[in-house]
Amino acid sequence: MGTGFSLRVLPSGDGQIDLAREVRAGLTAARKQLPCRFFYDAAGSRIFEEICALEEYYLTRAEDEILARHAADIVAAVAPTAVLVELGSGAATKTRRLLDAHRRRGGNPGFAMVDISSSALEGSARVLRAEFPALSVEGIAAEYEDGIDLLAAEKRTPWLVLWLGSNVGNLDRDAAGRFLGRVRARLGRDDRFLLGVDRRKEKSVLERAYDDASGVTARFNFNLFTRIDRELGGHFAGAAFRHIALYDEAAGRVEMHLESLVDQVVRVDALELDVRFARGERIHTEDSYKYSDAEVRELGRAAGFRVERTYTDSDARFLSVLFAPE
Ligand code: TRP
Repeated sequence: MGTGFSLRVLPSGDGQIDLAREVRAGLTAARKQLPCRFFYDAAGSRIFEEICALEEYYLTRAEDEILARHAADIVAAVAPTAVLVELGSGAATKTRRLLDAHRRRGGNPGFAMVDISSSALEGSARVLRAEFPALSVEGIAAEYEDGIDLLAAEKRTPWLVLWLGSNVGNLDRDAAGRFLGRVRARLGRDDRFLLGVDRRKEKSVLERAYDDASGVTARFNFNLFTRIDRELGGHFAGAAFRHIALYDEAAGRVEMHLESLVDQVVRVDALELDVRFARGERIHTEDSYKYSDAEVRELGRAAGFRVERTYTDSDARFLSVLFAPE
């Protein structure tokens, strides 16, 4: 890709190591589940981009509206010397809004992103470097904690850490709190943390966002089967399953499942495993937690952050929260 982009792949990057072990554990558990980090291979990352463009999936547009309006205000919270650090890969329009605002004020042209998928990082870097030729992009293919630890060990400037897209919602509330605590521990007084969270709202709106009419989200979920078939010699291709998304209002989370439509046995050759499914039995693949304003504040407070600013979109569906170390 030429200069201006460096990529490091840590052992936790690209999901190679754990696929066999985690699939075995998940498919032999009493309540079957598959690890959500395996969604984002090259194909999965492409399908996810399609999700972001869906009518029903308001999250991306809402967050983009917020950043379009408030990017300058947000970057003004850190010094011009600050480097933007994104958890997740930053090709999306949303990230570009912040990079552009930072560039306009003569900000540091450094940008680092941590993502599980090296192909997603390469794709993002290509798009970003085309738009920002002076940008120096550092990609770390790793789980977030490993990636941020590596960057923190080399930290020389203030940071504006971005965790957008309601990705925090894919952790349960306790894990989200622990993760924010880990991020907080790497930050100093001059750093800021911008968190994008989806607000609690009506069940029908949420269930449509995660089960769209054209079946894109279903395809995203089914990509887990495609990976198991390709990488572990699975035989899910001919099996009868459907995608479902259910909002649990009390818990404030959308649950994604793959549900077996019949009694069936699916072989996974590389694991020498025959997986038995009863009709109606589900594989839990992902949760997406939604937050009230008070829940976001408490999430940050428990991790050692105070809310410096909050921003919402014109339909008040999404929240961008700028946290400062307490
Ligand atoms: N962070 C996204 C969200 O929770 C991820 C996502 C969107 C997702 N649609 C999905 C994950 C469907 C699994 C299945 O909104």
